[in-house]
Amino acid sequence: MQVVSLETERLVLRQWREHDKAAFANLNSDPQVREFFLETLSRIESDAMFTRYAEFIAERGWGMWAVEEKVSTNFVGVVGLNIPKAEMPFAPCVEIAWRLAVPYWGHGYATEAASAVLAFGFEKLKLDEIVAFTTLQNKRSQGVMKKLRMQKVLQEFMHPAVPEGHPLQAHYLYKISQADWRLHNK
Ligand SMILES: CC(C)(COP(=O)(O)OP(=O)(O)OC[C@H]1O[C@@H](n2cnc3c(N)ncnc32)[C@H](O)[C@@H]1OP(=O)(O)O)[C@@H](O)C(=O)NCCC(=O)NCCS
Repeated sequence: MQVVSLETERLVLRQWREHDKAAFANLNSDPQVREFFLETLSRIESDAMFTRYAEFIAERGWGMWAVEEKVSTNFVGVVGLNIPKAEMPFAPCVEIAWRLAVPYWGHGYATEAASAVLAFGFEKLKLDEIVAFTTLQNKRSQGVMKKLRMQKVLQEFMHPAVPEGHPLQAHYLYKISQADWRLHNK
């Protein structure tokens, strides 16, 4: 399978490399990055996620890419497309997702990378629709969804992997259709 890389003005989205593992583990163990997840990840859990993402990209050519800052070649985080588990109430679908290391927040990097990912999903994969979801509390992530012109589905949903009654259980679902994306991306 031809592995796809995407390039933006300031970033490269590419297949994972062995030397990303340490920086990815730092990101996954940072309580600020994981504020709206159930827990931080151990090094073993982070390495397992690294392998899952790298294998997914190797099999399909696309997926949750490692993001590199062009000017420094530093590892910035992960942005890309994923196939959520079948038990999600809106599955089957393709989701767009992002997680950056804290020093790279506030530069417009998540939106810049995600814009290139949406273009790839609609132009190359010819997807009809791309979704994103996050907890009600995660305003930063919702900010990225809004900047991408994704539309919020008014009805929130309960994430099936979050325990009943947990404060992070309720999520917003956002969507963008290929037709709506094309209205602003000729
Ligand atoms: C969600 C997350 C990716 C958002 O990152 P971010 O840097 O805030 O998002 P953006 O790339 O859209 O950047 C927007 C910010 O960059 C600023 N910015 C600076 N230079 C910019 C530029 N050249 N272009 C655009 N925005 C710029 C904007 O003013 C904005 O700042 P503000 O939020 O203080 O108003 C990040 O907070 C994160 O990784 N969080 C932890 C993981 C997580 O929750 N992931 C989502 C799970 S669903």
